[in-house]
Amino acid sequence: MTPEQAIEHSAARLRASGIAPEIAIVLGTGWGPVAARVQDAVDIPYGELPAFPALGVGGHAGQVRLGRLGGRPVAVLAGRKHAYETGEPDGMKGAIRTLAALGVQVLLQTNAAGSMDPAMAPGQIMLLRDHINVVQRSPLFHETGDHRFVDMSAAYDPALGAQALAVAQRLGVPLFEGVYAWVMGPQFETPAEIRWLRGMGAQAVGMSTVPETILARHARMRVLALSLMTNMAAGMADETLSHAHTMATAQAASERAVGLLEAVVAGLEL
Ligand code: HPA
Repeated sequence: MTPEQAIEHSAARLRASGIAPEIAIVLGTGWGPVAARVQDAVDIPYGELPAFPALGVGGHAGQVRLGRLGGRPVAVLAGRKHAYETGEPDGMKGAIRTLAALGVQVLLQTNAAGSMDPAMAPGQIMLLRDHINVVQRSPLFHETGDHRFVDMSAAYDPALGAQALAVAQRLGVPLFEGVYAWVMGPQFETPAEIRWLRGMGAQAVGMSTVPETILARHARMRVLALSLMTNMAAGMADETLSHAHTMATAQAASERAVGLLEAVVAGLEL
């Protein structure tokens, strides 16, 4: 099966659910409870979608949940292939291209990140205004043709971002805005690396999201992204970093984050 056929098959399988999603939501650490808010849910495991990644590591195989969130048709992707697993940043290429083929207009990404802004404490949420591809690798390596030279000057849709900020304000949920630095991981950063990233003008650091944003922009989708701060970045607080710590903070803060996301989805004007 060629990659194009895999995308076609995957889109057909998702289309057979009878739901035509306008918005796709990628769930990151701490955002999992979003899936439980989806009504009239139809679940399709990644294993039935040939363009989607095989996950396996960590025990979760990944699935797409189609249904309605905030009253609108959505596809919720539980499970991301991270670049730190293989060193390759294109693990979600087929999945993102399938969403585009399905007619999805907006990719709403979520993740967990370390805060590099002393005012943005663990548990707070940041709207991505921009990113820095610290890794300097691309999921578009091996693409040919002029279309690969994707404009990234407004990668995170300013109009959708403004709407998200307005929804947060209406709900009384603080929503920070900032720049997300993508590092490869899987190790956390050193304090020296964090000083360097802060000097670059980034407020949050994480190991995901940027490859999918690039793929989505290449596929002409609009992108909105929210980061849940799970820790102060290395050297900024008197704590050691661990995945368990990240998970625990994410779990404690997820209710507010999930409520915000649902309201944002309900309120988006495309
Ligand atoms: N660094 C990188 N990725 C992360 C962090 C961090 O501090 N916290 C959650 N994801």
